[in-house]
Amino acid sequence: MHFQPFKLERYFAKHEFTAPYILCASDCDPLPLKDLLSMIHGETMKMWNILKLGYSDTQGLPELREEIAGLYRSVKPEDILVLAPEEGIFISMNTLLEKGDEVITTYPGYQSLYEVARSLGCHVKFWKPRFKNGWNFEPEDLEQLISNKTKLLVINFPNNPTGSTISKKVQQEIVDLAKKNDTILYSDEMYQYLEYEEENRLPSVADLYEKSVTLFGMSKTFALAGLRIGWLITKNHQWLNDFQIFRDYTTICNSAVSEILAIMGLKAQEQILRRNHEIIRYNLKLLNRFFTKYDTLFDWYIPKAGPIAFPRLKGNIDANEFCKDLLKSKGVMLLPPEVYDFDGNHFRIGFARRNMPEALNKLEEYIEENSYI
Ligand SMILES: Cc1ncc(COP(=O)(O)O)c(C=O)c1O
Repeated sequence: MHFQPFKLERYFAKHEFTAPYILCASDCDPLPLKDLLSMIHGETMKMWNILKLGYSDTQGLPELREEIAGLYRSVKPEDILVLAPEEGIFISMNTLLEKGDEVITTYPGYQSLYEVARSLGCHVKFWKPRFKNGWNFEPEDLEQLISNKTKLLVINFPNNPTGSTISKKVQQEIVDLAKKNDTILYSDEMYQYLEYEEENRLPSVADLYEKSVTLFGMSKTFALAGLRIGWLITKNHQWLNDFQIFRDYTTICNSAVSEILAIMGLKAQEQILRRNHEIIRYNLKLLNRFFTKYDTLFDWYIPKAGPIAFPRLKGNIDANEFCKDLLKSKGVMLLPPEVYDFDGNHFRIGFARRNMPEALNKLEEYIEENSYI
């Protein structure tokens, strides 16, 4: 095998379906099918009832691509390829990159955003954030890394795992740097629309830069990870065509059932987003209270966007051991730092699940029982 194991996914595979409390999930509380169906009426319900369970259009159902295009200012259905989000990363990186290419990625990050490039023999450099009153990705640090040798710049805002994002001004600076160096900009936008303040919502890179590939999908923002529906957008139709040629060797097309359910999710986006933001807002209040109470134990900051944060365990307690012992004794799953290969004793916490308050109580019990403070 040419790939290093995907540490985060292996850790989830081992514990996600046995641990009673998942306190590190990055998706919003999964929406029950009956709730989604109850939000939909008329023509879409008719599509559901007459759906034939055959193969579907390999680029993605045209009606779904229409609905997706509606999320953007300048994107057309023909600029879109619908596939599973993780599959989108795998296919596009394999298509765009070759051995020896230079790639820069935001880091820490979702492993496939750099591991696929690395496995292809690319030279991967990391753009790291500074930690001061939260995490900040500074364009001046990117400027030090990028040059006209950089083939691909990978960014992920809102960011997994830091919960940070950038301003529109910084986003434009990144686009300008990519343009100046003739670099392809790869923007993973899986957590788009999960900014807590409307003014922090970024436009999609798809609407800002022709030489870009963007990724978004139903998994996080729309609470529908089980559909396995996401999409790549690029206005470069040669690349899009190459992605499709590669895709014939992975899944060929999407689940026809999931495509209709994704249309429903997009049509009900206002309702779903309201629900998800309510859960996040409520849980973040509890987290702030918790981390203020235990501020001698944790370095906490208020994230700006998304369902996750990356606080630090202070002192000389090893966060890997802490996470594992917590899981064993209380059934609470946090993500240990080792899955991100990132120094500094930071762990990932998630707060878009409805049962987060119970999980947090269990964490508090654990801290008190073990006299950590
Ligand atoms: C930044 C980022 N990109 C892509 C993905 C892949 O999404 P999916 O698991 O729905 O394939 C994830 C999942 O956690 C993610 O966090």
